[in-house]
Amino acid sequence: MIKLLLASLLLPLLALAVPAPGPDGTYTLSAPGITAKFIPYSAAITSLVVSDRNGTKRDIILGYDNGTFYPVDPNHPDYGAVPGRYTNRIANHTYELDGNRYFTEANDGNGTLHSGLNGWSRRTWNVSEVTNSSITFTIRDEGNSSMGFPGLVLGKVTHTITANTWTTKLSAKAVDHKTPIMLTTHPYWNLDAFANPATDLVLNHTLSLPFGERMIGIDGTTQSTGELPKVKKGGVNDFVSKPKQLGASMSDPDWVGNCGSAFGCSGYNNQWIVDRGGPDMEKAIATLSSDWSGIKWDLYSDQAGVVVYSCYWMGGANELKKSQGGRASSGFVKSNGCVAVEPQDWIDGINHPEWGRTDKQIFGPDTKPYESWISYKFSTF
Ligand SMILES: *[C@@H]1O[C@H](CO)[C@@H](O)[C@H](O)[C@H]1NC(C)=O
Ligand SMILES: *[C@@H]1O[C@H](CO)[C@@H](O)[C@H](O)[C@H]1NC(C)=O
Ligand SMILES: *[C@@H]1O[C@H](CO)[C@@H](O)[C@H](O)[C@H]1NC(C)=O
Ligand SMILES: *[C@@H]1O[C@H](CO)[C@@H](O)[C@H](O)[C@H]1NC(C)=O
Ligand SMILES: *[C@@H]1O[C@H](CO)[C@@H](O)[C@H](O)[C@H]1NC(C)=O
Ligand SMILES: *[C@@H]1O[C@H](CO)[C@@H](O)[C@H](O)[C@H]1NC(C)=O
Ligand SMILES: *[C@@H]1O[C@H](CO)[C@@H](O)[C@H](O)[C@H]1NC(C)=O
Ligand SMILES: *[C@@H]1O[C@H](CO)[C@@H](O)[C@H](O)[C@H]1NC(C)=O
Repeated sequence: MIKLLLASLLLPLLALAVPAPGPDGTYTLSAPGITAKFIPYSAAITSLVVSDRNGTKRDIILGYDNGTFYPVDPNHPDYGAVPGRYTNRIANHTYELDGNRYFTEANDGNGTLHSGLNGWSRRTWNVSEVTNSSITFTIRDEGNSSMGFPGLVLGKVTHTITANTWTTKLSAKAVDHKTPIMLTTHPYWNLDAFANPATDLVLNHTLSLPFGERMIGIDGTTQSTGELPKVKKGGVNDFVSKPKQLGASMSDPDWVGNCGSAFGCSGYNNQWIVDRGGPDMEKAIATLSSDWSGIKWDLYSDQAGVVVYSCYWMGGANELKKSQGGRASSGFVKSNGCVAVEPQDWIDGINHPEWGRTDKQIFGPDTKPYESWISYKFSTF
């Protein structure tokens, strides 16, 4: 009786000892220098607050104040999401596996993007564990619940917040059938929190891709061609010779159509291969900074590629959070107003066995599970 009474008194106290979700289902995790919010929908990060060089707190990730808006957002830019089970594009919405041809959903021209309209970034995940520094989301993805992806996959994502750092561990097990698996995180950044009075765009953010010597070749509709072109020195896509502002090559004739000439995409929606080995595995694969806020992140990951999308398609329809905006801002995200960065294996590797990426992209009951990690370290300068 006493024990029961104690238990009933203690349980709510214990439950209170770790972060509980807010009324809109948002979980908040904090550590020195950083506060982040997460929601079960798409296992997403919805807010990331760090101090700028003056000590002013800035929310530098795109999202919505209202966690319940994500599933009903008609624009659905995969804000902060974990797309899956196979992120990014599948050319001509088809691939072959063990002699069988599978047809996935064509939701991006003739291609598939983020596994179609019932991918992991469009589902509400389960919250399986919350601690003071981490949250773990899981997903049970039955075979064919996204068109053309056979077999049950059990996915798991843990976001951890430690001093000035956001780290994500992603894993997935194919239980009863061979299937493509490729995951990433999909945050969009504006390191000025749209508060820079001179511009609400990211064209003055500086990007460095220290291992980005080669790219995944794309056709006019942004689908992988199988080519692996070398980055032209001094050209639009050169972030390897030295750090460069995202808008620095706007007057280069190659800027227009660089991310898909048929759709008219200007700027960046491309993947750079991360060519490295040995001690370089410990180094950052990308660095982004803004001279105005003085905020910088270094991105670490075990992945062999990094996608950079400079938000050409942001049409001005997505409202900013209350914590964002300033004199130059309309209150909505504009074209070139953000940059998404996504470490992941080579896009559409399942259609290019000649690349030798199969063991990184095809998993089954007899293989190791899919595993990857992504870590952002924030600082000021
Ligand atoms: C989590 O943090 C709260 C507030 O700082 C503290 O009271 C609690 O003991 C912590 N819980 C755990 C499990 O560390
Ligand atoms: C949050 O979004 C939902 C869905 O759009 C809406 O019904 C609700 O009124 C919103 N709540 C607030 C506080 O804005
Ligand atoms: C898509 O299919 C068409 C017709 O077979 C082919 O010509 C084209 O090269 C394919 N595109 C890609 C990117 O594989
Ligand atoms: C679209 O992809 C299908 C294969 O899934 C192919 O047969 C067709 O030719 C492609 N269409 C174009 C315009 O490339
Ligand atoms: C969440 O867990 C329940 C109970 O195990 C399960 O039925 C459901 O499919 C899970 N949802 C997801 C998105 O994995
Ligand atoms: C999934 O779809 C394939 C055809 O693409 C079919 O052969 C298979 O039986 C389906 N599996 C389930 C579990 O529905
Ligand atoms: C952006 O950088 C360019 C030089 O690269 C400079 O001319 C311009 O004034 C800057 N704009 C803002 C708003 O800082
Ligand atoms: C930092 O403070 C200086 C001096 O007050 C000011 O000019 C500058 O705009 C501030 N920077 C930011 C990002 O708020």
